[in-house]
Amino acid sequence: MRWLGLGAALLAVGCGPTPAAEYGEELFNDPTLSTSQYNTFSCATCHATTATPPSDKVYSGLSLHNVASRPHWWGGYETRLLDAVNFCYTAFMRGVTPLAPEDPKSRALYEYLVSLSPDASAPAQPFTLVKDITDVPRGNRQRGEVVYRAACQDCHGEAHTGKGRPSELSPILPEVSQEYGTLFPNVPPGLVFIEKVRHGRFFGVGGNMPPYSREAMSDEDLGALLTFLDL
Ligand code: HEC
Ligand code: HEC
Repeated sequence: MRWLGLGAALLAVGCGPTPAAEYGEELFNDPTLSTSQYNTFSCATCHATTATPPSDKVYSGLSLHNVASRPHWWGGYETRLLDAVNFCYTAFMRGVTPLAPEDPKSRALYEYLVSLSPDASAPAQPFTLVKDITDVPRGNRQRGEVVYRAACQDCHGEAHTGKGRPSELSPILPEVSQEYGTLFPNVPPGLVFIEKVRHGRFFGVGGNMPPYSREAMSDEDLGALLTFLDL
């Protein structure tokens, strides 16, 4: 396998979850895996692990069911599983130094990802980033509220109040757009939101929010979300 031989060997003889995999599962759910004081995300903030992801959630990341059996990751941009993980670790969790292959935490995380991968091989998953931002037709308000709760609320809290958000590092939506008149004078606020949702931290102003690919969120749901947020 691409990360370490050990996990593949265990998988081949059909062992159940090992203690290493259990430790890996703890790390997967633990925001302090990243030592940055500005991080509140764990892997589980953005990834389901089941074959059928929960229907009441819209995650920016794919389900990691069978992840260790895929031939490549990030739409072909990453050909080593550890690099695919480290992309998330450094870009979104603000990890300063990438996880090293021999680090016991990497090994445990790897064993956990292998334990989520019962099939010997699994197809690579599509990942389509929207490169050029254009406006989207507005949609159904009720659908927009459902999308907000499923996609944005875990990090941003309730709309208009931010109630329940894990940290004030995520601004209150949509009120943050009140600053946009001075920050982005020539851009309609709705377009700034589309840019943020489609590009996440890759937007010029930085940050660590994840991007939503086309597979993660359709333009139709994005349009409904904007109606709900009055943008
Ligand atoms: C803030 C959100 C976020 C966090 C936190 C996060 N990821 Fe991701 N991850 C993404 C997004 C977005 C992608 C790109 C879409 C995709 O392929 O899932 C991605 C991609 C991946 C991929 C490639 C999947 C594929 O088949 O292409 C792996 C593997 C992965 N993440 C593992 C992890 C692990 C392990 C952690 C914890 C150390 C983690 N991620 C933390 C958002 C996140
Ligand atoms: C995994 C957590 C997470 C999720 C899920 C998330 N956000 Fe964010 N968002 C953040 C964080 C953290 C920031 C502040 C840092 C940054 O700008 O990246 C932010 C910033 C923003 C901003 C402000 C950009 C700016 O600079 O003014 C907007 C707009 C936004 N998010 C919209 C959304 C919408 C809409 C959704 C749901 C589709 C969403 N976010 C989902 C974490 C998240």
